[in-house]
Amino acid sequence: MKKRSFLKNLLALGVTASPGVHSFGKALSRFEHIPPAQLASNEDFWAGIRAGYKLKPDYINLENGFYCFVPQETLENLIGHVREVNYQGSWYMRNERKANKAATTARLAELGGCSPEEVVITRNATESLDLIITGIHWKEGDEAVMAEQDYGAMLNQFKLAAKRYGVVNKVVSVPNLPQSDEEIVDLYAAAITPRTRLLMISHMINITGQILPVRKICDMAHSKGVQVLVDGAHAFGHFQFNLPELHCDYYGSSLHKWLSTPLGAGLLYVKKGNAQHVWPLLAEGERDPNDIQRLNHIGTYPAYTDLAINDAINYHHAIGGKRKEERLRYLQTYWTSKVREIPGVRVNTPADPARYCGIGNVGIEGMKPADFAKTLMEQYKIFTVPIDGSNVHGCRISPNLYTTLEELDVLVKACTELARA
Ligand SMILES: Cc1ncc(COP(=O)(O)O)c(C=O)c1O
Repeated sequence: MKKRSFLKNLLALGVTASPGVHSFGKALSRFEHIPPAQLASNEDFWAGIRAGYKLKPDYINLENGFYCFVPQETLENLIGHVREVNYQGSWYMRNERKANKAATTARLAELGGCSPEEVVITRNATESLDLIITGIHWKEGDEAVMAEQDYGAMLNQFKLAAKRYGVVNKVVSVPNLPQSDEEIVDLYAAAITPRTRLLMISHMINITGQILPVRKICDMAHSKGVQVLVDGAHAFGHFQFNLPELHCDYYGSSLHKWLSTPLGAGLLYVKKGNAQHVWPLLAEGERDPNDIQRLNHIGTYPAYTDLAINDAINYHHAIGGKRKEERLRYLQTYWTSKVREIPGVRVNTPADPARYCGIGNVGIEGMKPADFAKTLMEQYKIFTVPIDGSNVHGCRISPNLYTTLEELDVLVKACTELARA
């Protein structure tokens, strides 16, 4: 199908003007026969998806890693929920909120391939992960292992645990371009001692987009009696996996990143039997120590978010998780393969497709990342974020489903010209 006809088709179905998952799904179903890997390079299809977003014309947005702002479809649904909850007021909060939250939780669990008793909705990955980091029943001298490439807020929470409980933090450094899974597993294994209680790893390192061999690390840690907390802020909704198959004990993610929910939504997975090992952040009444709900008392909150998560899951399924993964990896491969070998350009994300998906990091030799980001914005109208620390020096490049190849060509041109300068 030609680009125009798909766009026309979406418009005729009212997708961009007054969106509805049903019509959207119907338009997409025309592409059902095309395998996800093949559809990844079908620009007509993705132009149709792009039409569902309201894009700021000021710049090319290659900084979706902070927040994957929502397509118009999800936005309109959210606004409808805000109106409805406001209309129903306390009636909604007393009589309907709980069941709706439980229904959304069950759908999230289904997406993660686990039981609804292992998942709670939080407000973001920070809440999910920090709750575990300081909630563990630490004793003075217990050790925790993490990487300098992990997210700053979690590293800070470990520093707080050190001050508060006497936890000893062992910080490793993950190579940007590892040669094998074993290299990474051995790195973490070497930091474990008989006093280690918890290991935290990133599913996808936020500054480079590198995907770690989570299951192998978990199996290694468990063989030494150590539990594993996975920071999946960038993984859930980005590429396909099943939570129990990772073999981790705890997993936290932000849903407003790659699942494209509105801001303020996260997920915490606690493997069955592990909730008893964690103190809640905010106290809940007496419950079974293994009831994950013990860890989820947050008081009154914007309950329409629960409903909008449900819409975002619908949108995710309408596009298809595998299609999304294949497209995001295709976009990353598209631009990295064009710049990786250019002298003076340094791609800080591995070249093995099993170790990346949509995110990459690129630096220009002799150019500070902050200057690179500034030049990208001022001369090429490309919005990115500079990273300059933890052995990573470059700009993080995080396209989204609406990103076009022409936009990535501008990035390639910028890298080529700046490396030559
Ligand atoms: C790896 C990683 N973990 C945790 C977070 C925190 O996410 P949030 O701010 O949504 O809580 C981020 C945010 O960018 C992140 O990249």
